[in-house]
Amino acid sequence: MADRNIQILKPDIKDDPAHELALSVLEGLSSRPKSLPSRLFYDDKGSKLFQQIMELEEYYPTRCEAEILEKYAAEITEHASGAKFNLVELGCGDGAKTVKLLDSLINKKIEFNFVPLDISRAAVEFLLGNLEKRYGEIPFEVKGLVAEYFQGLSWLTDNASERNMVLFLGSNIGNFNKPTALRFLRHLWHSLNDGDLVLIGYDLKKDLDILYDAYNDKKGVTKEFNFNVLDRINSLLGANFERKNFQHQGLYNVQTGAMESYLISQSKHIVTIEEVGKTFNFEPWEAIHMEYSYKYLESDIESLASSTGFEILKNFKDSKGYFVDSLWQVKK
Ligand code: AVJ
Repeated sequence: MADRNIQILKPDIKDDPAHELALSVLEGLSSRPKSLPSRLFYDDKGSKLFQQIMELEEYYPTRCEAEILEKYAAEITEHASGAKFNLVELGCGDGAKTVKLLDSLINKKIEFNFVPLDISRAAVEFLLGNLEKRYGEIPFEVKGLVAEYFQGLSWLTDNASERNMVLFLGSNIGNFNKPTALRFLRHLWHSLNDGDLVLIGYDLKKDLDILYDAYNDKKGVTKEFNFNVLDRINSLLGANFERKNFQHQGLYNVQTGAMESYLISQSKHIVTIEEVGKTFNFEPWEAIHMEYSYKYLESDIESLASSTGFEILKNFKDSKGYFVDSLWQVKK
């Protein structure tokens, strides 16, 4: 079943003749400060590592959001009742939390097509396998998409049905800086119809020790998740990054309001990347910026919604007040 139900919009990086990976690595490592794009985390190994992160004691967002969906699935799906609609999930990962919404829709006999989208083919396959295990014969149509977010929005523009609901859970939106978040939401609004629904997970600003621990876990899985990007560049682009030359650290940036991940060079050294045909000099303590995970205030969520054409129906919060799933409706 898996293959029939998957459409590939993004070729695997290793089959990509345009060397998109090489270009983005060249661009990132030529910038000051050096950086690497955070989508490089999610190859098949990286997606597995992220699943391990979600199970860590310190990584609270997943549990908070699971609590929200457990408690409010019925209230959320109430807004979706009516004619058959497309349920599109951007960055679905393993879909472990989404099944709470699926179950609620099935219970209410609300008809829908499920379209889970992820940049990792393995993640989409894993999710489809999970659905089969859970439901046997899956009681709704499923079409998995292997694609990047903005490709997913183009797919929506071409394929949106009369009614749509888009899920963007897990604070995936936190990877976007403010201008990109605005551009993304505006684009999303354009690809949807009046009255369509959007459910977005936002991680709230909170005690800095809690944030720090979530991105610097004791077992070192987050560190491994970051080093995996270097391994990936080594094997796909013939680079010679050495782990021992770097230290990982997640830091809260008080200026940007984001947790930011860095790989910090431990010594003066040179890295060669064959496929890029270039060497890169690293100074001692020079950092590669790996990821933003923006943290929000509820007032930030309100201003994002109102400046991109959405009305907030309700903010669903966990009992600790750490996380919000915000249900929005398109106003046209
Ligand atoms: C998948 C982007 C929501 O930013 O918290 C977890 C990724 N990085 N630990 C996040 C991540 C380090 C995660 N998102």
